[in-house]
Parts: sequence; C-alpha cells; structure tokens
Amino acid sequence: MTEPDRRAEGATAGVPLVRGAETLVVRIERQDGPSAPARWEEFHVERRPNANVISVLMQIQRNPVTSDGKKTTPPAWDAACLEEVCGSCTMNINGKVRQACSALIDKLAQPVTLQPMKKFPLVRDLAVDRSKMFNALKRIHGWIPVDGTYDLGPGPRQAQEDQEINYVLSTCMTCGCCLEVCPQVSPSTAFIGAAAISQARLFNNHPTGKMQADERLRALMDLGGVGDCGKAGNCVQACPKSIPLTSSIAEMARDTTRQALRDYFRRDERKGSAGPAG
Ligand code: SF4
Ligand code: SF4
Ligand code: FES
Repeated sequence: MTEPDRRAEGATAGVPLVRGAETLVVRIERQDGPSAPARWEEFHVERRPNANVISVLMQIQRNPVTSDGKKTTPPAWDAACLEEVCGSCTMNINGKVRQACSALIDKLAQPVTLQPMKKFPLVRDLAVDRSKMFNALKRIHGWIPVDGTYDLGPGPRQAQEDQEINYVLSTCMTCGCCLEVCPQVSPSTAFIGAAAISQARLFNNHPTGKMQADERLRALMDLGGVGDCGKAGNCVQACPKSIPLTSSIAEMARDTTRQALRDYFRRDERKGSAGPAG
C-alpha cells in the first residue's frame, strides 16, 4: 500500500498495513457552490468487495485526503433509498448518467470518474437541484385528485393490458437521466422533458385520472411541451427503468393534436350558439 493509500484509509504511520490490499482510484469533479469554480480531486481508497459508488463516497467522506496527501472537504452527494427507487443519487459515472447506489465498483473501469448531472442547477459537488422535474409534474397535473377522507369504495376496473402499461410508467423515479441526455433540455430551453410527458400518459390512462386529461394535454401544448421533442430517442436509452418514453411521447403528441382540434371546434360551437354579432 502506498503512502496515499495509507492516508486514504486513515492509517497512522507505524501501524502495520494489510499487504496486497487493492486500491481504487476515484476522480471527483468538485464545486463548492453554484458560482464557485469547478476542480478535479483524486482519491485512493481501499477496494472492498461488492462496494457501490455510494459506499466509496462514504469511505472518502470519512477521510477526505486526496491522493497527493492534501486534506480537503468531504464530498457532497444526495442519496436516500439506496435501492434505485428514489432517483436522488443520480450522477455521471464514467461519463454515463446513472444511479450511484446501483453502480457496482467491480463493474466500473478505473479511474472511476464522478461528475454531477449537468442539466440541473448545481447545489454542491455531486448534488444537484431536481426541482424543475417536480415543477414539471405540477404543470402536467401529475396526480389524481381524490376529494375527501371518506371511503370511496373500490376504484374502477382496468383492463390487464392497461395495468401492465401503467405499471411500467409508474416506476419513474424522477431521477433525471432522461433530461440529462436530451439535446432539447438546456438552461436556454423550456422543454418539459420526457419524464413529465410520460407521467401525463400514465395519469391520462387511469380510469379516474382521465377526467383531467384535457388539462394535462393543454399543459403539454404550451411552450416547452411535447412539440419541442426532437425525437432523437436518447431518453429511452438512458432510462434505468426501461420506460417506453418514445411511445409515451408519440402517444401524447397524437393526443395533444386531437385536443387542439377538440378545443377549436368547441370554440366554434360556442361562437355559433352566441348567434350573429349584432
Ligand atoms: S426523444 Fe430526444 S428530444 Fe425527445 S425527450 Fe427523448 S431525448 Fe429528448
Ligand atoms: S423516465 Fe426514466 S430516466 Fe426519466 S426520470 Fe423517470 S425513471 Fe428517470
Ligand atoms: S439512493 Fe435512491 S436511487 Fe439511489
């Protein structure tokens, strides 16, 4: 074990070291805050069996000393469920956007590079602010309103085929991978992104959620809606839940066209029933 390895594991000079322990090299893009300059820091840590990226970050957090022996601040990142359900640990790992909790070190090439997602405002180091995704869900009315606390009785029945489609759509964890790889998402564009479009499909497919379908479709017809998708298909490749995002986009594009026609004819009918202007 080299001197940096000794430091990374918190070993003290004079204490016997475990011979032949494998070392892992991790490079992290650090940034102290949104307006601070970015920098790279490299760490050597002991390679442990079955480690994932989060556990390696925790090793570094316990002893934040770079591979050239400089004491630094512990890196910041987000994580919650540790089982690829909450999406909060999403970052770029060796250049690919994915969840740090399910990224196993043994399957990654070295040095392991960690960078924050670039399509979201940076909070610090590897932590970003995903609020725009949650705001997009508010915009498309991504829920089913249930009024009151009384027993509503059993919900409407759904065909098996619809249940199967909806189940996959419901696994979205708002992780942001689909926005990170989308060429239409940038600080200068208003594009809502594939996740919210797919959630509109989910709630519009629901027998009760259908009642607010018009509202969701109109939200997708606004600036930055489904019409801004360039149909490159990067999103569907990047989705860790294998959600058929391009099908959702195609279905919502078709439904928004129908909604636009419905709205046009309704306006026309209203004008007709008001009688000739006089
Ligand atoms: S199809 Fe392309 S442009 Fe459309 S949401 Fe997916 S990645 Fe973005
Ligand atoms: S659609 Fe997939 S990639 Fe996009 S936020 Fe949901 S789970 Fe993540
Ligand atoms: S910690 Fe929840 S997805 Fe990784």
